[in-house]
Amino acid sequence: MYETWEELEATCMQCGACALADTRTHIVFGTGNRASRVLFIGEGPGEQEDLRGIPFVGRAGQLLDKMLAAVDLDRTKIYIANIVKCRPPQNRDPMPAEQEECINWLRAQVRLMKPAIIVCLGRIAGMKIIKPDLKITAEHGIWYEKGGILMMAMLHPAALLRNPNNKPEAFRDFLKLRDKITELGLNTDSD
Ligand code: URA
Ligand code: SF4
Repeated sequence: MYETWEELEATCMQCGACALADTRTHIVFGTGNRASRVLFIGEGPGEQEDLRGIPFVGRAGQLLDKMLAAVDLDRTKIYIANIVKCRPPQNRDPMPAEQEECINWLRAQVRLMKPAIIVCLGRIAGMKIIKPDLKITAEHGIWYEKGGILMMAMLHPAALLRNPNNKPEAFRDFLKLRDKITELGLNTDSD
């Protein structure tokens, strides 16, 4: 049980609990506003994230930033982390055992942050966090409730780069998020 973010981050940055430690450049702990009530969870670092130690800084990340901005959000108003904190080689899917090991760090982040809303970016995060049989194509944009936290899966921005035709439906999910933030009266003014 970690009492502070500083303690948690310092310990996490030493992690060698799975084989992804052998090939990573940097651990990608997470970024954004730790006092926010809105947490975004992606799959795992890609090449740029691994090189810089920051989530969603490659092409998919730039698209994410644009979609956030369109609903008046940015990284000062939310927190962003991933299911696994080290890059899987060749960007393969993180293996179940790697996810199971690494999610302990994410759980510790959730305990400190106490988010009201979790947004899962893509199938891997949605299946791990919301439900194992999540069908991302049919079930993105739907609110689920688990342990007092509202959760929604969204299409992964990397998938939107491959299928730009899906951008309008992805944008509708961001509008639903915006509405929910307003409805719950969550302050996202960089608090
Ligand atoms: N894709 C992810 O799922 N996470 C990142 O941090 C970058 C790309
Ligand atoms: Fe540790 Fe997670 Fe990195 Fe594996 S992926 S070494 S569990 S931080």
